[in-house]
Formats: sequence, structure tokens, C-alpha cells
Amino acid sequence: MLHHWRIVRPEGMNRKIHSFLRIIFFVLPLLVLNVSRVVVCQSQNTSFSYNGFDSAEARAQITCYHSASFQGNNLLLTEIGAVQASGRCLYNKPIQLLDPETRTPLSFSTQFIFLIRPSTNSDLADGIAFVIAPTLGGVNGSNQGFIGIFNNETNAKASTRTIAVEFDTYKNPEHEDMDDNHVGIDVNDIVSYAAVSSAYRTSSSPIIRSATDGYTVSMKNAVVHAWIDFDASSNQLNVSVSRDLGVKPTYPLISNSSLNLTDLLNENMYVGFSASTGPLPTVLYYVYAWSFSSNGRLAANVSMVSENSNNSTNKLGVIIGVILGSLGFVLTLVISLYVFHRRKSRKPNRYFSQDQWEWALQDHVPQEFSYRELAKATNNFSEKNRLGSGGFGEVFKGTIAHSGVSIAVKKISSESKQGAKEFVSEVTTIGRLRHRNLAPLLGWSQEKGLLLVYELMPHGSLDQVLFSHPEQLSWDQRLNILSGVAAALLYLHEENEQKIVHRDIKASNVMLDSQMNARLGDFGLARLYGHDAAPNTTNVAGTWGYMAPESFFTRKATEQTDVFSFGALIIEVVTGRRINSMVGEESCSLVEWLWNLQSRNALSEAIDLSLLKTSQDSSDMIQIVLQLGILCCFPDPKVRPFIRRVVQILNGDSQLPTMPSAESWSSFLFSAFSYLSDDTTSSALTSNAKSASLDVKAFVDLGGAR
Ligand SMILES: *[C@@H]1O[C@H](CO)[C@@H](O)[C@H](O)[C@H]1NC(C)=O
Ligand SMILES: *[C@@H]1O[C@H](CO)[C@@H](O)[C@H](O)[C@H]1NC(C)=O
Ligand SMILES: *[C@@H]1O[C@H](CO)[C@@H](O)[C@H](O)[C@H]1NC(C)=O
Ligand SMILES: *[C@@H]1O[C@H](CO)[C@@H](O)[C@H](O)[C@H]1NC(C)=O
Ligand SMILES: *[C@@H]1O[C@H](CO)[C@@H](O)[C@H](O)[C@H]1NC(C)=O
Repeated sequence: MLHHWRIVRPEGMNRKIHSFLRIIFFVLPLLVLNVSRVVVCQSQNTSFSYNGFDSAEARAQITCYHSASFQGNNLLLTEIGAVQASGRCLYNKPIQLLDPETRTPLSFSTQFIFLIRPSTNSDLADGIAFVIAPTLGGVNGSNQGFIGIFNNETNAKASTRTIAVEFDTYKNPEHEDMDDNHVGIDVNDIVSYAAVSSAYRTSSSPIIRSATDGYTVSMKNAVVHAWIDFDASSNQLNVSVSRDLGVKPTYPLISNSSLNLTDLLNENMYVGFSASTGPLPTVLYYVYAWSFSSNGRLAANVSMVSENSNNSTNKLGVIIGVILGSLGFVLTLVISLYVFHRRKSRKPNRYFSQDQWEWALQDHVPQEFSYRELAKATNNFSEKNRLGSGGFGEVFKGTIAHSGVSIAVKKISSESKQGAKEFVSEVTTIGRLRHRNLAPLLGWSQEKGLLLVYELMPHGSLDQVLFSHPEQLSWDQRLNILSGVAAALLYLHEENEQKIVHRDIKASNVMLDSQMNARLGDFGLARLYGHDAAPNTTNVAGTWGYMAPESFFTRKATEQTDVFSFGALIIEVVTGRRINSMVGEESCSLVEWLWNLQSRNALSEAIDLSLLKTSQDSSDMIQIVLQLGILCCFPDPKVRPFIRRVVQILNGDSQLPTMPSAESWSSFLFSAFSYLSDDTTSSALTSNAKSASLDVKAFVDLGGAR
């Protein structure tokens, strides 16, 4: 056997070649013998874990019925274009869920990651279910709203013997659905035995009253991680959901011990997933990862890592093993030397190892990526991976295959007019910035257009939370977010060796990390792309509503224009309204409305209702912060406080300056001549006077701060 051989390094043989040969002879054959087995079947216990379904094992052990199929690395439960159809994928070996002698239920545990992709036109989708079924096969045909668990023949019959956990994203009043985003336990009946609105729970409270109780998990168009655990000794069935992949909530969403499974289960059952489509052909349901255990232990943790490097090593081992077995020693030597030589002469590979990744994540050292790697990480920039689009382009989420690190890749829409060299130096400058409230740039790629790689932030951007689920943000969290952004700005303006003006502060550029701390993104981008006409930006870099009035004349971004944008952000965070929204029947701009309230001493009317309910004690501070926002948005840049003062006020270390009167606001705003007499802007204006006064008119017409 190979193991008894020793290769003595011949005189003159290169030491590296010698050790490479030893690897070929000893290590790789061991790997071949050790090909790890994902599935362990021991007597009556079953446990398996699939991080992706592309392996031969997954395809042998899971069978998909009707509309369902394997789709690359995923299970796709519905077929593109299929209407009134259902699909089901089941682990195709029976699983013992009842003790055959005592006929008592056995514990089981499962976790999986799924995505519900609603119809692109209507945003409607029925939902997806984890099913425990008595037989293989799927539901024949579909009846809308049954999620592929039942049809109109099998529903509500004890003989159906099917239990499911539904993740239901459509409200079917005929099935007594509570809302269009709930999780329910279905026992032989689509009318749920127990159901709760989908949420990530951080307290035992059955309803989410404040952020300390958790947050709503919207299951449409978002990747969701779910856990189902049944503990036989306590007869407790727990279900949890999270959008923070891999982070199980501290409290289950459903924890029910009233169900007696004895009479509901057969000794052997089949487990898997189902979904169905109604009349809309584009609703898709994906499962990305799944683990299951019926051996009394919790199911293995799953993640969205598409492939791991061990598998490829194993494959390499198999191939080399075969070569070794079939070719003579001399030939092998020639091949190995050739391979080794080629490996050596190839360019050093740019991909990060796990250690390098950890190091990079800690130190925020940006790295150049290859386009291929980023395309692979984001599933070829697929629609499914698209997180959204912003001022500078589209953002995709992805996972670096080797390391499992989750990333957000920003694809910049316009081409850089700068030389590549200059561009790289800019990116590395930005990449060297380090502050706990800046989103770290992990790297970039410039092979096919500009791509910037950031760490993926689990809670997405501030605007998503603030305007869709304001109840999830307590006052303390909001204040912490504002202080964080202010601290990041102070760093950019004053504490960094090189002054940087952000130019595009807005809620969608503020990311939220796992502790809901703010991470300001896109800093410096405006400088790179300042004069390209990108979507959602005007010819002056920035976004409507967040742009200081003077930037319409001077076309220059300054620290004080950043302070204005930050004021707009404060107003949004405190009022829960978008800065460019209109208020009331007279349709006045938000800022105009606030000045009105301010002059009537009625600012509290503007505070987000969900804050008023939960944060009575802080109402004084809330008002101070709102006033600070108004002050930062004062049209005269000289009146706006410096960011250092803003930080101090937010931290409670400094008093709010005296507010100017509402009259001074309106007189300043509506007198274009006051700009012309302002010496800080007049020199810029002389060259540009004509277009400047047009801009003032446009600005006034737009209601000041629209
Ligand atoms: C079930 O639905 C099918 C097709 O939608 C219909 O033909 C059949 O009559 C229905 N059966 C019952 C019992 O409602
Ligand atoms: C379980 O659900 C049933 C049906 O909704 C309900 O009556 C019972 O109180 C729940 N039990 C627990 C422990 O929540
Ligand atoms: C189910 O949830 C309850 C309540 O949080 C917890 O005490 C119990 O340990 C959980 N059981 C399992 C199997 O996770
Ligand atoms: C469940 O039902 C079976 C028979 O119907 C009964 O023997 C058993 O005690 C019940 N279990 C619980 C936990 O109530
Ligand atoms: C899964 O991950 C959680 C936290 O990330 C950890 O506490 C738990 O032990 C892990 N479970 C398994 C089965 O590895």
C-alpha cells in the first residue's frame, strides 16, 4: 500500500518538489478515503444538512414533484410560467416520528433558509410550507391558497394526516388568515391550528410593542431563516423566523404544547417543502439550505454558502487518486512536475483565505476582487440577489464561496471618467478610512465596470426600517443611529487627515448593523462620481430634499451642505416622514410645516406616532433633536451649527443654540437677493448669475425643501 512507501528526497531534488510529491502520495489518498458524508443514517434516526442542493447526494435524497425542481444550488418549488400549479420537494426516505412500541411522538428539529419572490407586477404571493406528509408525492393540481399542502379534496379531512408549518404571505379570508404575513401550524386543514404574525422575537411578549420585543419579519422578497423544533418530553413545538441569517431569535415565534401528535402522525412520515401558484405565473419559492435531525439533537446550522472549498478539494483528490491508480509512477511524476510548475508560474491568486478575510474585516483593508469571484458570489448578479438600487447604481448581496462571508456588492452605474490608476488611489483612500460608524469597504473590482464590495449589514438600510416598520425603532435606537451618523461625519470633516465632504447623506445610505448601529456608506463616492448624471441625483451631487439651497448656486459641496443633509435625516428619523413628502391639505413642504408648528409651539405634533406611544419619558429630548434638525436645515449656511456642536447636542453635552424665528426662515428663503448679497456665495454667483437665479426660482417653486 501507498502508506508503506517512503519517498527519500534524491540528491539535488528541489525541497518544494519533494514535499509536493509527498502530498500527492500520502495526503490526497487519505482525503479520497475520507470523503465526508453529509448524511448519517443510524438505525431509526435521520439527520442531514444541505447548504445548497447541487450535490449528487442532495439530488439522490430529495425528490421534487410536479412544479418543483432543482435549480442550480437551490430548490425551486414552482415553475416559472406555471399557473394554478403546486410543487413539493421531499426527503425521499421515511423518517420515524412515532415510537413504534409506546406510540409516543419523537423529537425532531429542522432549520432552513427560503425566499418568497412575489409576482413582479402585483407583489402577491401565497406562501411556502414545511410539510410532514404520510406519503411521497405532491398535491395533484392546485387550488389557490392551499400552499401545496392540501387541495380542495384533501383539506379538512382527518385521513389526510398532513401537518405543516405555513409561512403565509397572502390573506385568504376564507381560510381565516389573520394577515398577509403570518406563520401558522396547519393540522390536516389550511385553517391554521395556531398562527401568529411573522416576527423576530426577543421577548416572550405575544405582541411586539416596542423594539425590545423584536421586530416584524416581512417574508416577501427577503431571505428568511426558519427553525422548527419539537421536543417530545415537553410536547412543545417551537417555530422561529429571522431575517438575520444564522441568528436564531431568543424567543420562538410560536411555542405550543397543546397539540397531541400521537393520533396525527404515522410511525413513518416524509418531510419537505411545498408551495403553489394561483393565476400569477411569476411567483417563485426558493429553498437555499435545509437541515433536519430526528435524533434528539438540534438540527445542524445551515447557511447560504453556495459551495465550500472542502468539496472541491475532495473532488481534486478523487481525480488525482484515479490518475495515480491508473498511471505508472514515471508518468505521474511528469504530470505532477508539470502541474506544480504551472501552479508556481500562475499569477498569485487574489482571493482571500479565511484568515485574510478575518483580518480584512477587522482592519477594513480593501482588496481587489476578480469580476468572476463577485459574479459567482452574487449568483451572476441575479435578480434574486438584488437588494435594491441607489443613487449610484444597484446593490447585490452575495456570499464569498471560500469563506462564507456575506457581502453587498455595489455595481456603479456610470463609467468613471477618471483614469483607472487615479480611481484605485481614490478607492484606497476611502478604504483606509476607519470609523465604527462608516460602512467598511472590503474591496473593489474594475474589470467590467466599477464594483464596490461592502460587508453585508443584517438590518439593511435605515430607510427600509424607518419607513416600513417604524415601530421597530425605539427612540433610544433612533438617537443612537443619529449620534452614529453625526460621529461619522465629524470624522470625515474634522478628524480624518484629509477633509472629506460626504455629499449624499440620506436614510438609504445609512446601513444598520446587527446591533442597530448606524454605518454610513457611500462616503467619497460623490467625489468620485460628482459630475456624472446618475439616477436620483441632480447635476449637483445629492438627492432632492437633502440638498442645501446654496448648492444650487455654488454647485459646491461643503461641510455645511453635509450638515443640511444631516438635518434632513434628523427630521426624517424623528417624524417618520420622508423629507420630500408633502404635508396637509395645503401641501406644504415638510420643513415649512415644521416651521409652522415651531412658531405655534406645537412641534410635538410632528413626532412619529410610534415614538410618542413608547417613549413618553424622552419627549423633551425628542423635541430638542427635532429642533436641531430644523436648525441644521436652515437655508442660511452660517446659521447651521458645525457638526462638532451637533454631536455634542445629540450626546447631551451641549445646549441647543437659540432657534431663529420662523420669520427669519421665510424671509431668508423667499428673498433670492439675500443670497446675492451673501459674500460666501457671491463670487461663485457672478460667473453663474443667470442660471443661479433660475435655480433659486426653481427652488422656491418647489416649496423650499422638496
Ligand atoms: C376541486 O377543484 C376542482 C378544480 O378546481 C373542481 O373541478 C372540483 O369540483 C373541486 N372539488 C370539490 C369537492 O370542491
Ligand atoms: C396552542 O394553540 C392552541 C390553538 O390555537 C391554543 O388553544 C393553545 O392555547 C396554544 N397553547 C399554547 C401553550 O400556546
Ligand atoms: C421552545 O420554546 C420554549 C420557550 O422559549 C423554550 O423554553 C424551549 O426550550 C424551546 N424548546 C425547543 C425544543 O427549542
Ligand atoms: C395523546 O393522545 C393519546 C391517545 O389519543 C394519549 O394516550 C396520550 O396521553 C395523549 N398525550 C398527551 C401528551 O396528552
Ligand atoms: C448554531 O449556531 C448557534 C449560534 O450561532 C450556536 O449557539 C449553536 O450551538 C449552533 N448549533 C449547532 C448544532 O452547531
